[in-house]
Amino acid sequence: MSDKELRVTKIKDGTVIDHIRGGYALDVVKILGITGKEKRVMTIAINVPSKSIGVKDIVKIEGKALSPQEVNRIALVAPHASINIVRDYAVVEKLEVKLPSAIEGIVKCVNPCCISNAEEPVTSKFHVKSEEPLLLKCHYCGVTLEQADVLGKL
Ligand code: CTP
Ligand code: ZN
Repeated sequence: MSDKELRVTKIKDGTVIDHIRGGYALDVVKILGITGKEKRVMTIAINVPSKSIGVKDIVKIEGKALSPQEVNRIALVAPHASINIVRDYAVVEKLEVKLPSAIEGIVKCVNPCCISNAEEPVTSKFHVKSEEPLLLKCHYCGVTLEQADVLGKL
């Protein structure tokens, strides 16, 4: 590597979310509830060249191993991401993102009249009708959300 290139270094402990579709890293971060105000070192790379998928995004979160629930959330915005748990510089685990058949309390319904948007709301719940393209059906009002609705309503 020449001195003109800036290398994203390896991390000691934490999680590397790799092979995110180019441009979707910030959505991944958002769906994990990460604001940047946490006292944590994070690296976000957007639209970097990838041999296998043209361009990709990478998110490295130091000092935190994602829970299986957090990994599953990522599937909503980056179904082909690979999750690497790193300990003492080595990848000790590779997790697959997998959408559960129902999504509770993460996505907001687009229907303003849905009881999940009422003044005293019930927790939102969606059934996964299709993973790619993403189609979610509201358990309460039956409205269908597409990927763009989900991203706008996190
Ligand atoms: N990684 C890291 N810090 C480490 C180890 C790995 O940031 N201490 C990152 C690598 O840069 C890579 C990802 O974690 O983005 C997966 O690492 P590895 O499994 O070594 O790479 P590949 O074999 O290329 O992974 P894959 O098979 O998923 O393509
Ligand atoms: Zn609804």
